Amino acid sequence: MSKNARLILDEKEHTLPVIIGTEGEKAIDVRSLRADTGYITFDDGYGNTGSCESEVTFIDGEKGILRYRGYPIEELAEHSDFIESAYLIMNGELPTRPQRLAFSGLLRENSAVPVSMSYHFEGFPNEGSPMAILSAMLSSLACYFPSLATNNREKDLENFNHAAAVAISKVRTIAAMTYRMGKGLPFIYPRRDLAYADNFLHMMFSEPYYDHVPQPEIARALNLILLLHADHEQNCSTSTVRMVASSGANLFASVAAGVCALWGPLHGGANMAVIKMLEQIRADGDDGTKFIEQAKSGERRLMGFGHRVYKNYDPRAKIIGKACDNVLKKLGLNDPLLDIAKKLEEAALNDDYFLERKLYPNVDFYSGIIMKAIGIPVEMFTVMFAIGRMPGWIANWKEIASNPKGRISRPRQVYQGPVSRSYVPVEKR
Ligand code: CMC
Repeated sequence: MSKNARLILDEKEHTLPVIIGTEGEKAIDVRSLRADTGYITFDDGYGNTGSCESEVTFIDGEKGILRYRGYPIEELAEHSDFIESAYLIMNGELPTRPQRLAFSGLLRENSAVPVSMSYHFEGFPNEGSPMAILSAMLSSLACYFPSLATNNREKDLENFNHAAAVAISKVRTIAAMTYRMGKGLPFIYPRRDLAYADNFLHMMFSEPYYDHVPQPEIARALNLILLLHADHEQNCSTSTVRMVASSGANLFASVAAGVCALWGPLHGGANMAVIKMLEQIRADGDDGTKFIEQAKSGERRLMGFGHRVYKNYDPRAKIIGKACDNVLKKLGLNDPLLDIAKKLEEAALNDDYFLERKLYPNVDFYSGIIMKAIGIPVEMFTVMFAIGRMPGWIANWKEIASNPKGRISRPRQVYQGPVSRSYVPVEKR
C-alpha cells in the first residue's frame, strides 16, 4: 500500500508521497514542494537528503552493512578480486568467464598512456601533488580520446565499455607515472601478462634493468584494498561525479572532478592524515592517551574515526584491520604504528565520548598501515583510494547518463546576504 506524508504549512495541509527502497529505506518525495507551497527544504551537508535513486551500492550504517549490487562486502573480500568486483559494480552482475576474459583483455589493451600524453609529466614540478596531477591527467583523457568524450549522452553511452576500460586501466598507469616522476625515475611501461594489481606494482617498482616481482601477499593485499574502496554510495566524491555528469559532461571530466573531491582530509585524504597522526603520536612519546583527550576536547580530530553514515563498525575497517595483522605477520614486519593504532582503537571504543557519538574506526584507520607495508609512500595513499573508487564513480556516471528523465543537479539556497540596494559610484563611496 502506498504511503503519504502530511505537512501542515501556514495552516494548509499538503500531501507528499513516500518512496520505499528495496531494502526498506524510507524517503519523503519533496519534488513538488516548492511549486505547491513556495517552501524548499534546508539540509546543510545533505545528512537527510536522498539525492537520487540508485541500484549500485547499499549501506545500512546502523547495522554496519555494505553490499555491492546486493553482494555483502565480506563475501566479495573473501572470494572476489578488484577487477571482478569492478565489473559487478559497473554492470550489475558478476561476469561469466568469457565476460571476465573480455573485460581483462580490454583493460590490458588500454593500459598504456599515449606517448604525447606522457610529455605532460615534464611540465609538472617533481614535488607537485599526485592528486592534482591525477585529476589533470584524467581530465586530459578527453583530449586524447575525443570520440569517447563527446558530451553527447547517446554517443558516450555507446562507447561506455571502452571509456570505462580507459579510465580504470589508465588511472593506475597515470598514478605509477606520477610516483616515478616525483622520484625522478624513468617510466616503466605496463606489461600485458600481469594482472591488474601486479601490473601496478611493476610500473611503480620495476627498473629498466630489473623486474620487480611482488610477493603474492602484497599483490593480494593491494587487490583487497582496491576492492574495499570500489564503491560507497553517495559519498562526497561520488556525489560530485553525479553532479558533474548531470550537466551532460563526459566520463573523464566527471571522474576528474571526483578525484578533486576525494582529495580533502575529511574524505580520501584521511588515510594520509591517519599515518601522519600516528607518526606524531609516536614522536611525542604518547601511547595515545594524550591524543584521545585532545580529540575529546576538540583540539585534535581522531583521523580514521567516525563516519557520516556508519553509526556502527565500518565493515571495511573490520576486514582491513584483520588483513593488516596477517600481511604484517606474513611479511615479518613489525610496524610500531600498528600498536599505536590498536591502542587508540581500544581506548576510543571504551570511552563515553566516542560511544555516545557512535564513532568507530572507518576504512582509513588501518588502510595506511597496509599500504606502508606494500611500499606505497604516504603521499600516494589518496591516489590509491582514487584507483579503487574508479568503478563506483563510473557506475554512478552511467546511472546518470542512462536516465532519460534525469535533470541537471541544481540545489537551491536560503539567501542570507544584503537585501536589495543601489549602486554607488566609486567617487562617492
Ligand atoms: N574525532 C573526534 N571527534 C569526532 C570525530 C573524530 N574523528 N568525528 C566526529 N567527531 C565528533 C564531532 O566533533 C561532533 O561532536 P559534537 O556533537 O560534540 O559537536 C560529533 O562527533 C559529530 O561529528 P560531525 O563532524 O558532525 O560528523 P559528520 O558526519 O559531519 O562527519 C566525518 C563525518 C567522517 C567527516 C568525521 O567523523 C571526521 O572528520 N572523521 C575524521 C576524518 C576521517 O576519518 N574521514 C574518513 C571518512 S571514511 C572514508 C570516506 O568515505 O571518505
